[in-house]
Amino acid sequence: MGLDNQPQTLELCVIEGDGIGREVIPAAIDVLLRVAPDVQIRTASAGFECFQQNGTSLPEETLQAARDCTAVLFGATSSPAYPVEGYFSPIVRLRRTLLAYANLRPAQHLPVPTSREGVDMLVVRENTEDLYIGHEHMENEGKTGIAEKVITREATERVAKLAYELATRVGRKKVTIVHKANVLPKSDGLFRRVAMEIAANYPQIITDELYVDTAAYWMVKDPNRFDVILTPNLYGDILSDMAAAWGGGLGLAPSLSLGDRVAIAEPVHGSAPDIAGKGIANPTAAIMSVAMLLRHYWNRLEAADRVDKAVRVTLSEGDHTVDIYTQGAMSTKDFTASVIANL
Ligand code: NAI
Ligand code: MG
Repeated sequence: MGLDNQPQTLELCVIEGDGIGREVIPAAIDVLLRVAPDVQIRTASAGFECFQQNGTSLPEETLQAARDCTAVLFGATSSPAYPVEGYFSPIVRLRRTLLAYANLRPAQHLPVPTSREGVDMLVVRENTEDLYIGHEHMENEGKTGIAEKVITREATERVAKLAYELATRVGRKKVTIVHKANVLPKSDGLFRRVAMEIAANYPQIITDELYVDTAAYWMVKDPNRFDVILTPNLYGDILSDMAAAWGGGLGLAPSLSLGDRVAIAEPVHGSAPDIAGKGIANPTAAIMSVAMLLRHYWNRLEAADRVDKAVRVTLSEGDHTVDIYTQGAMSTKDFTASVIANL
């Protein structure tokens, strides 16, 4: 599995994407090259602007570069909320095509006023199926929209194994399986059953379960009760954004998608069109995503520790970007320079 894979040459396919992807990714690479100067970078394009220029949001050359490198740093892309003929979300497609089947989304207390004391959880989100396969169609003369939800034993097994292996490795105590098997006994019921089967192999870890609505309630009411959350794609998307709020906000929320032979480091946030181009985006999520890549895929623990520590020191000294609070907010570049100075 991805956790055991330690490639020799560190090649990184960098896809900045749209909007603030183009601002936070260069910042993250600046930091990465300080702690791992041997990393070889290949750049590739994807996203809405790429779609407008090339007629595809994820060109074949980009896919090939990602396959060749086996590690990808992905910024964010803009996806329209209305149907655009031929357009698809490149990150969803990239995760599925590369079989980066588990999306790890930690939310941890950071030294900023927007972050909640004591929060330390990891959402492990299944990344390849559920409603996100995008099988949708219209019926009833356009008056009914139908989407297919797919859950398989295979995909559930691999993501559950990865969640429990990782939990064991990093010394976490509890895994909460989140689903809605009461209403969806065939799809979510299968997810629950298979996840419980895997859980039985890890008796040293406490396993419990919650319906997703109850999980959302507890996420707001008492986030400190969560350790690892294991859940299908859609619930994981939503719950991890909620968790990100406790971590201090989307600008601070990193993630890593792992598969057997691939890793995609990707901040949780999107292209943030409201602030794009202003040079004020928070690069922390992208920088910490790179730290996750170093830690969980490249096994460069010392480098990962250096990055995480530098981010903490920078934030605890009061350096911050506008998403944290406006007074004294720094630009992306100045904040990144602070992080680098603290490495
Ligand atoms: P968003 O994450 O782009 O922005 C939500 C809010 O958080 C905005 O107010 C934004 O300014 C702020 N924000 C996000 N990241 C920030 C950062 N690093 N620093 C400072 N402020 C930050 O989500 P939204 O607005 O729902 O989506 C915008 C576009 O991004 C859409 O086209 C959406 O499809 C796309 N998107 C792409 C993702 C990806 O490529 N992985 C993930 C989520 C959304
Ligand atoms: Mg999301």
